[in-house]
Amino acid sequence: MSLLAASSTAFSKLSHQSPLRRTSASTDSRSPPPHGRVVVVRASPVPAADGVELEGELELPRWAGETSLSRFIGALISFKPLFSVMKLGARQLLIGNAEKTNIPWREMTNEILNSDVYKEMESVQNPSLVYPDYYLNPFHAYDEGNLSWLAAAEAEAATMSIAKLAVPDAPTVDEANKIVRGKWLKAIENHLKQYSGNSEINDILDIGCSIGVSTRYLAEMFPSANVTGLDLSPYFLSVAQYKEKKKAARIKPIRWIHANGECTGLPSKSFDLVSLAYVLHECPRRATIGLVNEAFRLLRPGGTIAVTDNSPKSKVLQELSPAKFTLLKSTEPFLDEYYLLDLEKTMRDAGFVSVRTIMTSPRHRTVTATVPHC
Ligand SMILES: C[S@@+](CC[C@H](N)C(=O)[O-])C[C@H]1O[C@@H](n2cnc3c(N)ncnc32)[C@H](O)[C@@H]1O
Repeated sequence: MSLLAASSTAFSKLSHQSPLRRTSASTDSRSPPPHGRVVVVRASPVPAADGVELEGELELPRWAGETSLSRFIGALISFKPLFSVMKLGARQLLIGNAEKTNIPWREMTNEILNSDVYKEMESVQNPSLVYPDYYLNPFHAYDEGNLSWLAAAEAEAATMSIAKLAVPDAPTVDEANKIVRGKWLKAIENHLKQYSGNSEINDILDIGCSIGVSTRYLAEMFPSANVTGLDLSPYFLSVAQYKEKKKAARIKPIRWIHANGECTGLPSKSFDLVSLAYVLHECPRRATIGLVNEAFRLLRPGGTIAVTDNSPKSKVLQELSPAKFTLLKSTEPFLDEYYLLDLEKTMRDAGFVSVRTIMTSPRHRTVTATVPHC
């Protein structure tokens, strides 16, 4: 019997223990914030199109945070021989899932690896950038984390696969992408309408832009704005710039910056919208706090932060099978820290007001907030 199989009894015992059962499906039980106007909008119990409720009954999945189950998985993952097997398993699962849904993972990857993308590195890389420690560890089953050509070449297929997982009933991957991204953009639009009055969106910063998928969606939604994509990986930025060059020229070309989103070096109060799309679940708590504080510094009064990422309250994520959540945690080292941090409070602590959270897919939430006018 494999070690994973032998652990299944322990899994099932542990997975029934949780102190975090919600008392109400639709209210936010946290005490009111010390300052600022806060509107927390929960989507529960709105049924999804397929009749499945969007929110689970817990505050966060049993496999995350400080539960016995979470600690048990942590112990399994820290056992090196098993970790290597899990890493491989997680990778096979991701590629297999993608190919099952007609995402040509290998073709897409080879197209980038066999292209001229390498020439972009010189113009995007900031050779004096000092990487934060967490960024230098193996990550997503890549030994060099996000600092490799393979990770950069596979990023678009991985992004598509995640959208399809989030909306499995979507007829095509493109459709799934449009739904997930469309709901995120709609949440931003609604927040702007409600809290930014008529103020224009002239400058947008997409922190953790990766290969530029979120950046391009933002540029298309706000075609007259100056849009900047910023990331720690010069490999990802090279792919972003390479792909952008292959598209029709924009009136306002996207600017790509290789920097740490926690300390960008960009001028204070120089943006109207700062986006962090699917970044924070990949960051330790201290980096998330740094990113939110830096966004606050960079935004003008009335400016908006928009975070989209895994929802701790997602029913789908809370009900993942033990095999899947163990594989997931083996490649996402900061999931526990992500789930344990109260993101809305972190935003309010940074000075943001009008903090709103809505579910924008059965797996994801979008949290938006505003910089007060003083
Ligand atoms: C999942 S990807 C983001 C995907 C992209 N925003 C999208 O929506 O398609 C997360 C990105 O965050 C970047 N990242 C992590 N920590 C960062 C930091 N401190 N500053 C800037 N980028 C960071 C990673 O390099 C990675 O490209």
